[in-house]
Parts: sequence; structure tokens; C-alpha cells
Amino acid sequence: MFTLHLLLLAVPPGILAIHSEYPYERDHPHSYFKDFPCPNAEDIAPCTCTYLEDESVMDMECKHLADEQELYEVFQAAMPDPNFRRLELVTKNIGTLSYYIFGNATFEEVVTNVVVPGTTSHVGPKTFINSLSTLRVLLLYKNELTENDFPFDTLSQYTALRHLSFYNNHISVFPSIESSTLKDLDMGNNPYREIPAGALDNLPNLEYFWADATHTDSMATGIFASLPHLKSISMAVSHLGNLNSLQFEVNSNSMELIDLPFNGIASIEENTFKGVTSGIIALEDNLITLLPENSWRPLVEAGVVLKLKGNDLLCGCDVAWLVLEPSFHGLVEDATCQDGEKLVDLDPTYFENNC
Ligand SMILES: *[C@@H]1O[C@H](CO)[C@@H](O)[C@H](O)[C@H]1NC(C)=O
Repeated sequence: MFTLHLLLLAVPPGILAIHSEYPYERDHPHSYFKDFPCPNAEDIAPCTCTYLEDESVMDMECKHLADEQELYEVFQAAMPDPNFRRLELVTKNIGTLSYYIFGNATFEEVVTNVVVPGTTSHVGPKTFINSLSTLRVLLLYKNELTENDFPFDTLSQYTALRHLSFYNNHISVFPSIESSTLKDLDMGNNPYREIPAGALDNLPNLEYFWADATHTDSMATGIFASLPHLKSISMAVSHLGNLNSLQFEVNSNSMELIDLPFNGIASIEENTFKGVTSGIIALEDNLITLLPENSWRPLVEAGVVLKLKGNDLLCGCDVAWLVLEPSFHGLVEDATCQDGEKLVDLDPTYFENNC
């Protein structure tokens, strides 16, 4: 599990999330023409445009740009069709993405810095204004955006927006975001310390929330309770510490994963995960010592899988209820006691006689 988590963290979580729906590794060796409706190649260098005939879409890729001016000039080229599917942009040498920088172009997907970190430190309120009705995916990975450098208050106007990522930026205050269409929000790897009450209340279609590797040590209760379609909460390697009642309350029947490894969690109050009736709660590599029946039986009875490897379970009488019920063992299979023995291998007669 340890290696798996490191692996997952090495890849921006948003990429994993959208990968099935919008594969980036496309393999169409014979299907594309590089010309019509793309602009002339020499007019847009160093960007390149690819027309995928099968899907009738045009993708633009821009790397090795010298500065903002060069990007601006690319989109001043004559364009037979300014409606692109994807813009993939490496923003090294680009600080501000301002109004007009993309000319009259529209995009469905804008992806920055999939591999190399970029330098974008400001996005203007109208930068993507031509794409209000087309933009489905906006992934501003690995830039230098703070909470003041992106027009969060304009997001509600993007009527097709599904996937939004600020993974690995410099956001130190969790922004207020409103969108009736957004499904996938990645706020991971940013230095904010608090997720305030109501932070996700205006995202009624949210399914995936990613906030891995942040400095979050304070999270209001009920953040997730307003999300009927929620499937996944991922907050690995943050600073949550002890969990309080209702902090992860959900009102969704679609839960697949609540991922909280490496959070310094020692204690978890009753009803912390109220409403969770499916999926996995992953708590590996925390500091949990006890599994009191009041807290955990409702989850296990509903069939929720608990991942508990790498904790400090004392495996005293507090786990008797688990040890003595073989039908629960499959749900706590990796739980390991302080002395290294697996919880499911403990001798039930000891617990029958002593607890
Ligand atoms: C953008 O559209 C306007 C209005 O149609 C036009 O005047 C202008 O030349 C276009 N700009 C570019 C860069 O194509």
C-alpha cells in the first residue's frame, strides 16, 4: 500500500480521474491530417495543430514559447476554424494568461504542464471568455497561481465545465467555487490550511474531490453532506489529525472511496463517517490505536471496507467484536496490530475468554 500511495501521488490525481473519459495517450497513426482546418504550420510555430479526422477535432499543442507575446501572435494567425478541442500548453516563460491572448479561439479542454512545472502566475477574468459554453476541462497543473490570481468567481458562467484542477499551485486560501456542472475538482498540493464551511455547497454535481498533499489541518463539519452524487474524497498526506463527528458525513449512495492515509490521525469520533454505506475508507499509515465498536460497527455492517495497515492498533478488547465476527474479516483484511500480527489472524478464544 505504501508504494501504491507514493505512486499515486507522483501522478497528479486529476490525471487519473479523467483518464478513462479523456485519454491523453491517443494512438491514431493513420487518421490525422495536419492541414485543414488547422492554420498554416508556419504561422503558429512553435505551436502545432493536429486535426483528428475520425473525431473531426483539432488539437493545439504549444511548447517552447519564448513569452506571452509569442503566444499572442500564434493566435493572431488566420484560422479557418478557431474552435479547438484541446489546447495543451507548457507555460514555462509565461506569467500571465490575459484577455485576448487566445484571440478568437475556443477550447473544450485546456491542459497545462502535464510533465514540466510551469510559471503561470495570473489568469485574467476574460482569458477563456470565448469558451464559456465549450470548456469542459481546465487543468492548470503545476503553476504559480495564488488565490488572487485566478477568477474563481467567473466559473459559474462556464456551462459545460466538468473537470477543474489547480493541482500543485500556490493557493493558500481555499477559494469559493460555484458550478452546477462540475464533476471533478482537484485542489491538491496547495498550501491552504483550512477548508471552510460551505466550501463545496455550490457544486451540486460534484463526484470527485481531490485535496491530497495540502496543509489542511482544519475542516468544517458537513463539507461533503450537500453532495448527492459524491463518489470520492481524496485527502491523502494532509494534516487532518484527529477526526471529529460528522466531518466526513455524506448523503450520497455512490461512495467509492474516502482516502485519508498519512494524516496523523490518532482518534476518530463516532459518526465521523455518517452516511457512508459503500466503498472503501482508507486510513493506512496513521496513528490509530483503537477500533471501538460504536464508531465502526455501523460502517462494517453496511459493507464498507476499512484499510488500516500501518497503524498502531493495540488489538485489545476493543477489537473483540471484529475478531469474533468472521463475516467482517474480509472488510479489515490488512489491519495489523502493533506487534505485526494481522487482526484477522488473532485467536478468537482469547477474546471470548478475556473480553
Ligand atoms: C476575431 O474576430 C473578429 C470579429 O469577427 C475579427 O475582426 C478579428 O479579426 C478576429 N481576430 C482574429 C485574430 O482572428
